[in-house]
Amino acid sequence: MARNVILDVDTGSDDACAIMLAALSEELNVLGVCAVNGNRPLSDTLTNTLKIIELLKMEDKIPVVKGAAQPLVRDLLAGRNKNPKTAEIQLDENGEEICYHPKKFNLPEPVLKPVDENFVTWYINTIKNSSKKVTIVPVGPLTNIAIVLRAEPSLVDNIEEIVIMGGGHDVRNSTAAAEFNIWKDPEAAEIVLNSGAKITLVPLDATHAASTRLSEAQQYRDLHTSVGDLFAELIEIRTRAYNILQPLAEPDLCPIHDALCVAYLLNPAVLKNVIHTRVDVDMGGGFADGMTIVDTRHIHNLPDNCYVALDADRDLFNKILFEKIATFKD
Ligand code: RIB
Ligand code: CA
Repeated sequence: MARNVILDVDTGSDDACAIMLAALSEELNVLGVCAVNGNRPLSDTLTNTLKIIELLKMEDKIPVVKGAAQPLVRDLLAGRNKNPKTAEIQLDENGEEICYHPKKFNLPEPVLKPVDENFVTWYINTIKNSSKKVTIVPVGPLTNIAIVLRAEPSLVDNIEEIVIMGGGHDVRNSTAAAEFNIWKDPEAAEIVLNSGAKITLVPLDATHAASTRLSEAQQYRDLHTSVGDLFAELIEIRTRAYNILQPLAEPDLCPIHDALCVAYLLNPAVLKNVIHTRVDVDMGGGFADGMTIVDTRHIHNLPDNCYVALDADRDLFNKILFEKIATFKD
């Protein structure tokens, strides 16, 4: 029986991979995809999401929802970002920005429109009207989810699990302390972590362990489909960005962070070294702003609030990815 899921995305290259994986998995019934401000401004993440749903030819099956355009409070606090995220934009030999997430995907402008309903009522109605509990998969900043759960706290009774791509225990990216999704809206993350829902956190420790190799892009090109070609292109874009902006343990790797959350729903064995403990988020606005504090020694005196995956099965993850993407036919 298919699992009812909602993806919350800041599309983004790896968000696009997560959407394609979820939409092509018959084990999942995607009730909708909600866009949020994150990798790019909401106008871009929403448009990119609409483009991916159209590429998948699922305009009539998967609604797209327009979410929040700004973090809860983070940007209201002048000077909060004492710890500059990254250096200035880097350009390649053609003067193009070297980045993980194209501003606009190289796909036709979408005809599809987002649903004509605000995301809060859409989430509440969709989840309450679902025939079974819903799994939410936030793979961008948690702004939308925090607002929805503040509006309707009892919604957690209809939520099977929240599988979050975010945080980092020994691995960070946006700053020396924090991972992007959490850093972009720390207060939202803390609200969701303490909402009372069952939470599985998929941090950078796991997503980096599951990294895809540049050499694996060719198998997607060999599918000779529009989805396979885009998947290969996104691997190439991400790998180039990592090689230049964030060198990993070895060259020509790219973590496809968000898709690992979806793969976990298809086969939980992709996540390894999963511990149940307490995770909190630093909201101090200083150098640790947005840091996820994972209490691996259980020395806290607060309730445990989430399952945290500190490792992943790279080969199993990439096997699942390819098997599902290969099912798409133009
Ligand atoms: O830190 C990685 C996360 O930040 C991913 O979800 C990526 O898409 C960006 O949103
Ligand atoms: Ca994302």
